[in-house]
Amino acid sequence: MDVRLISSADVADHDTPLLVLPVHASEDGVSAVIPKGVAPRLTDTYTADDLKSRPGHAVWAYLGEGPGPRRVLFLGAGPLREFDAEAIRRFAGYAVRSAEAVGVPTVTAYLGSAWSAGAERAAQAAAEGGTLAAWRFTEMRDVSSEKDHTELSDFEVMMDAEVVGDAERGVASGGAIGRAANFARTLQSRPGNVATPSHLADEAVRMAGERGLEVTVMGPEELRRENMHALLSVAQGSDEEARLIVLRHRGDPAGGAPLVLVGKGLTFDSGGISIKPAKGMEDMIFDMSGGAAVIGAMQAIAELGVPLNVVGIVPSSENLINGRAMKPGDIIASREGKTIEVVNTDAEGRLILADALSYAQGLEPAAIVDCATLTGAVVMALGHHAAAVLGTDDDLVRELQNAGDESGERCWPLPLWDEYRRQLDSDVADLVNVGGRAAGTITAACFLREFVGDYSWAHLDVAGMAYGEGKQSYQRKGAAGFPTRLLVEWVRSRVG
Ligand code: BES
Ligand code: MN
Ligand code: ZN
Repeated sequence: MDVRLISSADVADHDTPLLVLPVHASEDGVSAVIPKGVAPRLTDTYTADDLKSRPGHAVWAYLGEGPGPRRVLFLGAGPLREFDAEAIRRFAGYAVRSAEAVGVPTVTAYLGSAWSAGAERAAQAAAEGGTLAAWRFTEMRDVSSEKDHTELSDFEVMMDAEVVGDAERGVASGGAIGRAANFARTLQSRPGNVATPSHLADEAVRMAGERGLEVTVMGPEELRRENMHALLSVAQGSDEEARLIVLRHRGDPAGGAPLVLVGKGLTFDSGGISIKPAKGMEDMIFDMSGGAAVIGAMQAIAELGVPLNVVGIVPSSENLINGRAMKPGDIIASREGKTIEVVNTDAEGRLILADALSYAQGLEPAAIVDCATLTGAVVMALGHHAAAVLGTDDDLVRELQNAGDESGERCWPLPLWDEYRRQLDSDVADLVNVGGRAAGTITAACFLREFVGDYSWAHLDVAGMAYGEGKQSYQRKGAAGFPTRLLVEWVRSRVG
């Protein structure tokens, strides 16, 4: 799908099957934002009394053959004063759903000029919302029999002539970020028998070749040489070999310390010998969501030419059961040198991340941010409305919270006090891999902290956010791409 900017100055001659206009509530009542050029053609075709500002509410007007728009949709877009980036993403999402409903391949969404965020941010949000909404995972079924479905081919953001400079930049970054999140969603959606660790690595290598990133992939032999015994211990229960994927973006020729993104790439989590219940286990194909988001974020960072050095690291494995599988009670080694008593083989994410975080230290980073579908406990704590963020650096945690607010992928802090660390004390090893039922998200983060040295580090537990029911207009059931947009926003916030 193509995303582009159109100036509202051209609207009278702009042939589009569907022009979508926002309907807002303000002190003056409910009204639509109408670009000058179409107002004369609208006079008799709608009644302003029908308009409602409730997000997604639709009133259609048919204008007939061009030149200019053939249909106008008055689309509820909420209170005028709350038309922020997230409201714009949702508006764009509804615009795409409306185009799908009438089966047109192009939709033009007008933003007016009352956004609170600035023209560039507004245009970015619209391009993101449209790009995200248009994505579907269709590669593994026959959709040719779906008579009603027209694939969207063009999403147009229409803004006023005075702001086209800023808006062009916004549309370009919103398109890149939306495509990156969609790439992550596609990787997430591929099932465990397709998206294996070697598949993730192959996709990372292909993407890196297309976008000019450096890429290194380590297999079992290199992992042994690197002493990544924690990653190898998880992988030894499976026939699929482990991989460690390293993507490098060299955006700062002055050689500044890199930002490092680490994502859990567990391509299927059965729990191992501490096996999970059958019900819902199929969702564990999404246990590589953190890794997918890091690969997606690196794609956008390359495409946007972010002037910083950024490294993406994805440890990838399956967590299965064979005769050589790790067992409860096993004591395993790690790259960091610490020994780990494995009391529950289902707490495997922290094991593969431990070695990846230890490896990240070797890059002497300015900061490390990891993201992982790490604990069910985070869903108890925050539900499906925010990820948890925990870290060693309060400023970094705040940066991530802000990036979450800006990107619409929110996160909220939990404490990392030393009292919690005691739950990981082991009688036989340097630490145990599970700290009991209490504060599961926090003790998991305490575990990770043992492997980051003194570096500025934060962890995002995205288990409640990476996939879901797809309640927003721009989402769908299944893979959400979370936190691709948050990561890109955070990296961009570190520029200059
Ligand atoms: N991948 C799971 C966490 C998860 C749970 C992701 C629900 C998405 C939805 C992780 O590997 C896991 O199994 N965690 C255990 C840890 C426990 C054994 C301490 C959990 O949360 O139950
Ligand atoms: Mn698990
Ligand atoms: Zn897992």
